[in-house]
Amino acid sequence: MTQTFGELDHPARLLMGPGPINVHPRVLRAMSVQLLGQFDPEFTGYMNETMALYRQVFQTQNRWTFLIDGTSRAAIEAALVSVLAPGDDVVVVNAGRFGLLLSEIAERCDAKVTLVEGEWGKVVDPQAVEDVVKRVRPRLVACVHGDTSTTMAQPIEAIGEICRRHDALLYVDATATIGGMSVPVDAWQADIVTGGLQKCLGGPSGSGPITISDRAAAHINGRKHVEAGIATAGVVSGAGRRIASNYFDLAMIMDYWSDKRLNHHTEAASMLYAARECARVVLEEGLEARFARHAQAGAAVVAGVEAMGLSVYGDKAHKMTNVTAVLIPPGVDGDRVRSRMRTDFEIEIGTAFGPLAGKVWRIGAMGVNAKKHAVLTTLAALEAVLRGEGYGFTAGAGVDAALGVFA
Ligand SMILES: Cc1ncc(COP(=O)(O)O)c(C=O)c1O
Repeated sequence: MTQTFGELDHPARLLMGPGPINVHPRVLRAMSVQLLGQFDPEFTGYMNETMALYRQVFQTQNRWTFLIDGTSRAAIEAALVSVLAPGDDVVVVNAGRFGLLLSEIAERCDAKVTLVEGEWGKVVDPQAVEDVVKRVRPRLVACVHGDTSTTMAQPIEAIGEICRRHDALLYVDATATIGGMSVPVDAWQADIVTGGLQKCLGGPSGSGPITISDRAAAHINGRKHVEAGIATAGVVSGAGRRIASNYFDLAMIMDYWSDKRLNHHTEAASMLYAARECARVVLEEGLEARFARHAQAGAAVVAGVEAMGLSVYGDKAHKMTNVTAVLIPPGVDGDRVRSRMRTDFEIEIGTAFGPLAGKVWRIGAMGVNAKKHAVLTTLAALEAVLRGEGYGFTAGAGVDAALGVFA
């Protein structure tokens, strides 16, 4: 029997978790624009515009600034697999789930991984990174800027400086901060930085912006071995070992985004439209204004939950502005609270992983939701649900405290 199911017709849920978040209406509209052939001059013009837009978002002059088709982890994987050959040393700064993800991907590249371990809920001391880098002399240091699993924002400047001093490349995962907190790639002296649309950039997941310094690009191009079916006469392969992934081969993908327009993959046009519109929205608002808006919304979440007698997890001095982890009070069933937020109020807040599973909720205020109404609505709903769960506090205190931050 043929089954067609219904049209997608769910209620407009307010997404206040650690991502994805509600998509900006302009981005949704851009995604419904008709496709063009990927080598149509109008489309390659959009590709060039997208590169120019993301240079500004990443605060970089890097020529190689473009999109990886796939979710944020696709961009991470492209970065690591294109730099790391089997046996290469890599130092991974790890203090959360996404640090562990970097090390797991590096291991799959058969790289030799050395971890600089930090405690969850804290950032890692750059001196500890330098000590390990001095000993290991890695090709690459990899770290996460904002690790959404712990909500900590690792300061990157000092690590960038250490990498230059010891001639290592620096990779940074800025998936969860790009467009909401400053990601000054050139000032950081970072070599490869990747992002994602579904958090502060206010888009859907499915495209990973990436930026690559000239020195990282030179290393990657040294590993270029163009796929047989698309190589043109006279194409010279690099001396380095072939990159282990075809889809994530940054050497070929750079050729695709260059004037050579190497026929690598079929660009995900609707995602390019989305990424391009996300960047236009961000830049029209202005980077500084956007960072300030996210900081204010995050401060209001913190003030609100604290006024309700709840505690914020982790080192508040290094907390990401856009995501807040809130300790679930004793006697309260965290999953039931999340479920009632959803069923009674159409609001999603986040759960947690690993050592924090069942211990914290994660509340994000990002993109179009880093706004007064979204924060107040979420806090009001949380107050009502917690009262229903028998958790005692002064009614209205959370919303009032948050209103004070916006005043
Ligand atoms: C810091 C960080 N890195 C990487 C990812 C992976 O992103 P994606 O799920 O888009 O592949 C996430 C997703 O939450 C993240 O927060």
